[in-house]
Amino acid sequence: MRVFVDGREGAGIDPADRGLNYGDGLFETLAVRDGRARFLGWHLERLSAGAAQLGIPLPARELLVDEVARAWPQGRGVVRIVVTRGVGGRGYRPPGYPRPLRVVSGWEWPAPDPACWTRGVRLRWCETRLGRNPRLAGIKHLNRLEQVLARAEWDDPEVAEGLMMDDGGRVICATQANLFIVAGGRLVTPAVDACGVAGVMRRAFRAWAEERGEPVVERAVAAGELQEAESLILTNALIGAWPACELDGRRLAVDARTADFNAWLERQ
Ligand SMILES: Cc1ncc(COP(=O)(O)O)c(C=O)c1O
Repeated sequence: MRVFVDGREGAGIDPADRGLNYGDGLFETLAVRDGRARFLGWHLERLSAGAAQLGIPLPARELLVDEVARAWPQGRGVVRIVVTRGVGGRGYRPPGYPRPLRVVSGWEWPAPDPACWTRGVRLRWCETRLGRNPRLAGIKHLNRLEQVLARAEWDDPEVAEGLMMDDGGRVICATQANLFIVAGGRLVTPAVDACGVAGVMRRAFRAWAEERGEPVVERAVAAGELQEAESLILTNALIGAWPACELDGRRLAVDARTADFNAWLERQ
C-alpha cells in the first residue's frame, strides 16, 4: 500500500484532524485498470460537489490527479482519496479558513469470487435504517456509521450484500452499492435526494442503459416493490454490476444486462 498525505509519502496525520474527530470530510474509492483510474473525472466531479456542499475548499485538481497516478501507477488496484476540513475550529464549529487535508492511498485489487458476476449474489434486508438528510444526500461524506452498523448485522460469507431502507421505509441502496430494480422488464433506481450516495457506477450503468434505448426511472421505491421485481442489480466503482440471485431466500432471475454492461466496462 502507498499513502500520500498532503503529497508526502508515508507522512502522519494530526490527531486533531476534523475528519478523524467528526467525520468532517469526503472520500472516493476508484478502480484502477492498467494503471488508469476508471471514471476519474466523474469521481472528481462528485468530490467537488461534496466539497461545495460541505464548504471544504478542494485541493487543486492537478494535485489529486497526480497523486492518484502515483498511488497505483500500474496494473489493477484501488485508489482511495480522502479530503477532510483539516485541523482547526472550536468544537464542531468549522474554522473560518480551513486548510484541508488530503490522503491518497493505493491498495491491492480485492478480487471477490468471480461467481458474483455470473451466478449472482445473495442479498438480505438490513434492519439499520438510513436517516434522511437532503444536505448530505448524494455526496460521499466520511460519516458511514449507518453502513457500518448494517454490515455488522450478518457474517454469513454466502450473503454478499444487505439492502437498506430509509427511516420512512423507502428502499435506497445496499451497504456499499447502488441498486437497480428490474420490474416488468423496466429499470428503476431509487432516488438519492434524501439519503444514499449518487454512485459513479450508478451513473455509468444508467448512461449505458439509456444509450441502448432503455430509460432508467429514478424515483422513490417502496419495499413491497421488491417482492414483485424479477431481478435486482448492484453497482459500485469496484464491482461494476453484480446481478442478485436471491433476496432473503426468494430466488431472483440473474439479469443478462449485467454481463453486457461488465463487458462494456472492461473496454473503458
Ligand atoms: C453507501 C454507498 N452507496 C453507493 C456506493 C456506490 O458508489 P460508487 O459507484 O461511486 O462506488 C457506495 C460505494 O462504496 C456506497 O458506499
